[in-house]
Amino acid sequence: MTSQKIFETTIRHYLAPIIEYLDDPGVSEVMVNRFDEIYIEKAGELIRVPAAFADIEHYEAAANNILQFTRQSFNSDKTLMDARLPDGSRVHVAKSPCARYGTVMTIRKFCKDMLDIDWLTELGTLTPQAKHFIRMAVEGEQNLLVTGGTSSGKTSLLNALSVFIPSTQRIVVIEDSAELQLQKDHVVSMETKAPDRFGRGAVTIRDLFKSSLRLRPDRIIIGEVRGGEALDMIQAMTSGHGGSMGTLHANNPMDAMNRLETMAMMAKVDLPLTALRGQIASAIDMVVQMSRHDGGKRIVTQITEIGALGENGRHGLKDLFKLDKSEKCNENGKNTFELRWTGERPELADRLSNEQLMSCDESLHDIFGLVTSE
Ligand SMILES: Nc1ncnc2c1ncn2[C@@H]1O[C@H](COP(=O)(O)OP(=O)(O)OP(=O)(O)O)[C@@H](O)[C@H]1O
Ligand SMILES: [Mg+2]
Repeated sequence: MTSQKIFETTIRHYLAPIIEYLDDPGVSEVMVNRFDEIYIEKAGELIRVPAAFADIEHYEAAANNILQFTRQSFNSDKTLMDARLPDGSRVHVAKSPCARYGTVMTIRKFCKDMLDIDWLTELGTLTPQAKHFIRMAVEGEQNLLVTGGTSSGKTSLLNALSVFIPSTQRIVVIEDSAELQLQKDHVVSMETKAPDRFGRGAVTIRDLFKSSLRLRPDRIIIGEVRGGEALDMIQAMTSGHGGSMGTLHANNPMDAMNRLETMAMMAKVDLPLTALRGQIASAIDMVVQMSRHDGGKRIVTQITEIGALGENGRHGLKDLFKLDKSEKCNENGKNTFELRWTGERPELADRLSNEQLMSCDESLHDIFGLVTSE
């Protein structure tokens, strides 16, 4: 038996008390606070379930088993660890003393359907028009960030967008804990490495980023930008790696710009703030903002172009799509908002070739100022 097969078999045994929830496609997250205190998230709602591990030892053994197969020893000095289940679900384990009352484990279930842009459109995460627009942005090699709060669906959307990358291009993916499963053939995936128990041998996102530039990428995709690698990303984006993408935790596109600035400064490179801000403005072309709503719904709330800095030294943001806040009722009688074009002409129109423009969906003709043929 391969080690992967052994993992699959043993994991079902160890996780037997919660396997019912892991197998339920309606459950998106399983949270174990203690061996006998377990919550799930179903349809956006947090529910405490009556499940329990037999005792602390059984629970610790289950956590141990998961970590063992990701080559991380639970007995090491590390207290915070990421791992994956064989089906791609993401596991985070925090143990004492950081978790003050003993080991805490959360399992974010991997849902294959969430990788399909058409499915996300059907769920109402974005409109068909916005989907076509994002397709043009990806094909037009825009440097794009998907932003939003925790669990707002950033990684899933980034994954789904990858389908629009032309198959002729070579993609290098850089991540902390491998989550992205790009729907492309030519993908090189890189994952960071934790240090051993003597603090040696760590490989950071920044290290991977530098190495990735020597791997001849057409596009670089960075799972989540959260530290000094922001500077490397910005510099790569401005030096010929158009069409690069990533996710970033931010409340709105302006917040995203400010956070990038702060993160780039963590790289400890002497760069005057105005120069850095200018680089960010020319690196990032577009931000797709997401948010999480009642009932677990995730919605694209804004698509914004990042223009050049204004004379006042501030970012020039142009909202292309925004949620129409005039409330409408859907068939369930709930208020819904719709993502609508703001009427602003995108700069993207000037970056696309004639051929690309002519191939765009008819719903974009107004946006790109094309005349619709009868
Ligand atoms: N469009 C969507 N509609 C409904 N559920 C979604 C959608 N996108 C993702 N989800 C679910 O929401 C959860 C979080 O998704 P995801 O990991 O993509 O979010 P994230 O913003 O990247 O989270 P984090 O902040 O932890 O990085 C997952 O369980 C996923 O299946
Ligand atoms: Mg994410």
